[in-house]
Amino acid sequence: MATASEPRNTAHNKGSDHAINQLSSGHRFAGLAHAALAEGDAEKGEKVFRKCRSCHEVGQEAKDKTGPALNGIVGAAAGASPDFGYSNAMKEAAEAGLVWDEASLAAFLTKPRDFLKGTQMSFPGLRKEADVANVIAYLAGQQAVAEN
Ligand code: HEC
Repeated sequence: MATASEPRNTAHNKGSDHAINQLSSGHRFAGLAHAALAEGDAEKGEKVFRKCRSCHEVGQEAKDKTGPALNGIVGAAAGASPDFGYSNAMKEAAEAGLVWDEASLAAFLTKPRDFLKGTQMSFPGLRKEADVANVIAYLAGQQAVAEN
């Protein structure tokens, strides 16, 4: 099973030309990205993350559950938790070079299935822009996992 405290691979882009509709429209999400950067409050985000905890863990002991462990997810390549069984949709997005920056996270967390058709994350999305920004700020603080 996954030892979730393993560091994630750094973001990479294989330059694949697989077309993934939503990923190419960077401009569309620019506003959300700015909102996340400007307003994110990690303490509030910790509360928002309660909605994610049934499926996701963060922290030293984090393991993959229904969803992958999320340490270091901000800035990481998508689909990179070593032993997690991702959907084909996520694998294809990862191959196409999807990286979880503020913009892509904001889009995904607002409407997971619109952003990534076929994702197996059965979560309807966060309706409030502030919740999205705050949970991203919280996750951004969950980068460092001490190595043993
Ligand atoms: C019902 C379970 C469930 C809930 C609730 C849920 N997720 Fe997920 N999440 C998943 C699954 C399953 C995947 C893998 C999706 C795939 O492979 O298509 C995933 C994938 C992700 C990814 C991509 C991870 C990677 O390694 O690329 C992120 C980021 C994420 N979720 C964040 C969240 C956040 C933040 C919340 C709360 C706002 C949340 N999720 C709520 C099940 C869930």
